[in-house]
Amino acid sequence: MAKNNRTVKFKVPATSANLGPGFDCLALALGIYDEIEMKLADTVQVSVKGEGEKELATDENNLMVKVVQHLFRQAGKPFSGIHIKAKNAIPLTKGLGSSSAAIVGSLYGANELLGRPFKREELFNFASHLEGHPDNVAAAIFGGFTISWRENGDAKALSFAPPSNLKVILGIPDFEVYTIRARNILPAVWSKEDVVFTLGRACLLSASMVSKKYDFLKAACEDRLHEPYRGKLVPGYEQIREQVHEMGGLGVAISGSGPSVLAFTSKNVDKIRKIMVDTFKKNKIKSTTILAKASAFGVK
Ligand code: HSE
Repeated sequence: MAKNNRTVKFKVPATSANLGPGFDCLALALGIYDEIEMKLADTVQVSVKGEGEKELATDENNLMVKVVQHLFRQAGKPFSGIHIKAKNAIPLTKGLGSSSAAIVGSLYGANELLGRPFKREELFNFASHLEGHPDNVAAAIFGGFTISWRENGDAKALSFAPPSNLKVILGIPDFEVYTIRARNILPAVWSKEDVVFTLGRACLLSASMVSKKYDFLKAACEDRLHEPYRGKLVPGYEQIREQVHEMGGLGVAISGSGPSVLAFTSKNVDKIRKIMVDTFKKNKIKSTTILAKASAFGVK
C-alpha cells in the first residue's frame, strides 16, 4: 500500500503562447484553470470532469499518469499507482495550453507527493522537454507574461507581472488544430526581412508588456514567422484582426498554434466578442468567446 496518504490539490492556468511574434518564446498565463487532485495509490485511477471528459484516457495511457511516472523515474522512486481527479476548464486542442497544463500539473503534483525533490525551475526544464518547446509551460509554471529560451540544453524563463488594465478576449472556434500539424506547415527557413520584421515586433511586445505601455500592441502583435501560414488554418482570422483593430482593440494574435484567436483590449469587449462570433459564423464555423484576465500565478 502506498505509504503517503496525502491528497494534493492545485490548479494550473491556461496559457496563450507566441502572442504574435514570440514564436516558441513568449506566453501569457490566463485566468482559466484546470483543478487537479492527486493521491498516491497502488492502482491507477483517473477521473476527468469538464473539458476532455469524454475524450481523455482514464488508465495508464492518460498523459498525466505518464508524466507522473516520468517524474518518479527522474526522482529514482518506485511508482505503484496514482489516483487523479481533474476538473478541467481549459478547452482541448484550441491553442490554449491544455497539454502544457496537464504536463505541468502532473509534474507539480507528483513533486509535492514526493516531498519536493525538485525546484520549480527543474520542473520547468522537465516540462519543456516533454512538451518540446518552453513557451506554454513557462507561463503555466511561473504565471504572468513569460519569456523563455534554451541555454546549453536547459530551458530558462523570466516571468513578469501580467499586464494590468488589459482584457484578453479569446475567440474559440469549434474545430481543432493539432500543434504537430501547425508546426509541420511552417517553412524550414525564413527570409532575413521576415526575421528582422518579427524580431523588432517581439522586442516591442516584450517591452510593451513589461512597461505596461499598450499603445504599440497593434504593431507589436504582428508576426511573419508562423501566422502567415497558420492564419490559413483559421478561416476568418484576417477579417477578425481588421475589425477588432477598427473597434479599438489593441492587439490580435493566434493563440499558440491556433485555432483560437486572442485580442487584447481595454474597451468594447462585447462588440469584439460579437465580431469574433459573427466572423466565424460567416465562415460557417461555430464559436464561443471567453473574456479572460491574465493570471499572475502559475501552478499552485
Ligand atoms: N509555440 C508553440 C507553437 C505553441 O506555436 O507551435 C503551441 O501551443
